[in-house]
Amino acid sequence: MRVFVTGASGWIGSATVDELLTAGYEVTGLARSDASAAALEAKGVRVRRGDLDDLDSIRGGADEAEAVIHLANKHDFANMAASAAAERAAVQTIGDALAGTGKPFLLASGVAGLTQGRPSTEADASPFHGPDSPRGGSENLALEFVERGVHTISLRFPPTVHGARDHGFIAAIAAVAREKGVSGYPGDGTNRWAAVHVSDAARLNVLGLAKAPAGSRLHAVAEEGVPAREIAEAIGRSFGLPVASIAPDEVMGHFGWIGMFFGMDLPSTSTATRELLGWTPVGPTLIEDIDAGGYQ
Ligand SMILES: NC(=O)c1ccc[n+]([C@@H]2O[C@H](COP(=O)([O-])OP(=O)(O)OC[C@H]3O[C@@H](n4cnc5c(N)ncnc54)[C@H](OP(=O)(O)O)[C@@H]3O)[C@@H](O)[C@H]2O)c1
Repeated sequence: MRVFVTGASGWIGSATVDELLTAGYEVTGLARSDASAAALEAKGVRVRRGDLDDLDSIRGGADEAEAVIHLANKHDFANMAASAAAERAAVQTIGDALAGTGKPFLLASGVAGLTQGRPSTEADASPFHGPDSPRGGSENLALEFVERGVHTISLRFPPTVHGARDHGFIAAIAAVAREKGVSGYPGDGTNRWAAVHVSDAARLNVLGLAKAPAGSRLHAVAEEGVPAREIAEAIGRSFGLPVASIAPDEVMGHFGWIGMFFGMDLPSTSTATRELLGWTPVGPTLIEDIDAGGYQ
């Protein structure tokens, strides 16, 4: 099967492409730079040059493929509206290209904002609708295409998809700790983040492509909720830094943009995903990864 992957050169994308190639899929990856194109070609991936704003290239990739996995994201945290608009436009374009074909369309989403005060589950529909909502309401937009003959599957990732060389949220928190000389946690540090190792997430993505029914919301969650305080303590151990609470009204000033997320309580479960696909996470835990020096 020929699979078109956007974000193929990214953190989750690279691991997913490796899993796809191992499983015998033919992969075409969207690349916006020479460096990303070269990295993909070195793995035996066919390259389609293009940017997220180049919707013709994205449409062409979807037209040619038998399945699409959309993992690219601008991640401009200084202009989240622009990232959300690009995300929505890409999803609309891929959905329109696949309409009526029954082809699989897997897209990245997250567990943030699904529930308050309890772990989110696959049964929790996203409350985000429309272009002005987080991620441009892209999960609901993609799921609407099921009625138009697209085999949509949402890949919901927890706030940390961790591992050595991760440059995501934990790396950002570790960078603040190094810069400030203290490993902080918001308030009393009891807010939790669900977590998964990148290898387990990649394996789930490929299992989802092979086996998940249209309209599935898959939770790539290995750990239901790691308290912020334990994350800060592990980062403190890793860098030999003191650990301290940051008062809630100082969180944004101390952490900058990542404070927006580090203060959130984002527990989540994956019971239904495990039962549906027989997926069992086996990778290291978040704290094991930090303790092993994965963020140094
Ligand atoms: N990592 C997590 O913990 C996490 C958690 C929840 C949700 N997610 C979601 O999962 C998806 C994958 O995340 P990730 O961690 O793998 O992200 P990442 O490492 O930042 O990779 C982003 C990918 O998107 C590509 N990209 C960025 N801007 C682009 C543009 N303007 N045009 C075309 N391609 C562009 C990048 O290309 P280059 O390689 O050329 O830069 C890269 O391949 C994203 O939608 C993300 O929001 C991730």
